[in-house]
Amino acid sequence: MKHDEMEAVILNTFTFYNPTKLIFGKDQLEQLKEQIPQYGKNVLVVYGGGSIKKNGLYDKVMVVLNEIGANVSELSGVEPNPRLTTAEKGIDICKTENIDFILAVGGGSVIDCTKLIAAGAKYDGAAWDLVTKKAIPNDALPFGTVLTLAATGSEMNAGSVITNMETQEKYGWGSPVTFPKFSILDPQHTFTVPQDQTIYGIVDMMTHLFEQYFHNTTNTPAQDRLIEGVLRTVMETGPKLVNDLENYEHRETILFTGTLALNGMLQMGYRGDWASHNIEHAVSAVYDIPHAGGLAILFPNWMRHNLDVNPARFKQLAVRVFDVNPEGKSDKEIGLEGADALRAFWTSIGAPSRLSDYDITDEKIDLMADKAMINGEFGNFNKLKKEDVVSILTASL
Ligand code: NZQ
Ligand code: ZN
Repeated sequence: MKHDEMEAVILNTFTFYNPTKLIFGKDQLEQLKEQIPQYGKNVLVVYGGGSIKKNGLYDKVMVVLNEIGANVSELSGVEPNPRLTTAEKGIDICKTENIDFILAVGGGSVIDCTKLIAAGAKYDGAAWDLVTKKAIPNDALPFGTVLTLAATGSEMNAGSVITNMETQEKYGWGSPVTFPKFSILDPQHTFTVPQDQTIYGIVDMMTHLFEQYFHNTTNTPAQDRLIEGVLRTVMETGPKLVNDLENYEHRETILFTGTLALNGMLQMGYRGDWASHNIEHAVSAVYDIPHAGGLAILFPNWMRHNLDVNPARFKQLAVRVFDVNPEGKSDKEIGLEGADALRAFWTSIGAPSRLSDYDITDEKIDLMADKAMINGEFGNFNKLKKEDVVSILTASL
C-alpha cells in the first residue's frame, strides 16, 4: 500500500513536561554559585576517567564549590558505558556522607551514572532493580550537570543507560524523578573532546533523530520538518567541526543540536522506533564498544531491512535530508539510496561501518540477538523478531 493510501493516524494525546533548566553559552559555569546552594551544602561531584583534570575544568568547578562553602565528596572513574558497580559506590557515598546534591561533570556516561546514584540513594533495595524496572523510583536526590560532550541528550532528559558487566547486560531506564535540575552547556567545555568522540557524538545525535523519524503516526508535518532541519544542520556542521575541533561556532551548533535531538521536544504525540538502540545496547553489553560506533554500523542496515514497511517514509527522508533525486525511481529505490547516502556520509567523517572494525565476528550473534530479545519483540515502527535481529547483525559483520 502506498503511504498516501494508508489510513491516517492522528497524534497520541500527550503532556509535555521537561523541568530541566538549560543554561547555555560561554562562561556560564559561574551559575553553579546560584544553582547549587538552594539544595544544600554536601555535594558529591561525579566525573569520568580524568579528561576534566587534564583540561582544567575540574579545577574551575572546585574553585566555585569552595566559594560557596560546599562540603565536597568525589566519585571519579565513571567508565564510558557506565557500570552498575560504579553507581553503587556513589550510592554508598550519598548514604554515608549525607549528600544533599550531586554534580555530574562529564559526558553521557557520567550523567547516566549520576541518575542511578540519585535514584539509588533514595531506594533501599538493589540499584539494579531500578535499571531492570523491577522497582519504580519515586524519589531521587537532586542533581545537576556540567556537560562536556555533545551526544546523548542525557543532560536534558530523564533517561540513563547502565551496564552490568557481571551479567553482560546493558539497559536503558528512566523516571520523571531523574531529570537534572539544571545543566550547564558551555561549548568551550567540549573543545578537548577528541576527534573520534566528536564523530561518535555526531552519529549518536543523528541516530536519535532517525529513531524518532521512523514511526507510524501520519499527521506529523511539523515534527518531520523539525527533525529534518536538525539533521541537515548536523550534516552541514559536523564535517567542519571534525576538521576544526576548537571552532567555537561549530562546537556551539553541535552542542545545541545534541540536546535538541533528545530532550523530548521532537517526539511529541508519537513513539519513535528505537529498535537500533536496543540492538546496539546488546552489542555493547557483550563487546563494550562505544555506543555510537555500534549505531553507525547498525542503523543503515536497520534501514535496508525495513524498507518495505513504509517505503514512502524512507523516500521522504532520502529526498528531504539526503537530496536524493527521485525521478524515475520507485519509493523503495529512493529509500535505498537514502540509506546508502547515510552510510557514505558517516564514512566520510570517519565513523566505523562494520562490526569487524571492532574485531567482532559471527561468533556471538546468537547471544547478542538473545540479549536484544530479552523483553520480546521490539521496535515501534516495525516489530523485530529474533530472526530480524540476526539478519541485521549478520549484514553488519
Ligand atoms: O571519562 P573521561 O576521562 O571524562 O573521558 C570521556 C570518555 O572517555 C571523554 N570525554 C568526555 N568529555 C570530554 C572527553 N574527553 C576530552 N574532553 C572532554 N571535554 O569521552 C569519552 C566518552 O564519554 P561518554 O560520556 O561515555 O560519551 P557519551 O556522552 O557519548 O555517552 C555514552 C553513553 O551514554 C549512553 C550510551 O549508551 C553510553 O553508555 N546513552 C545515553 C542516553 C541517554 N541517557 O539519554 C541515550 C543514548 O542513546 C545513549 O544510549
Ligand atoms: Zn544513542
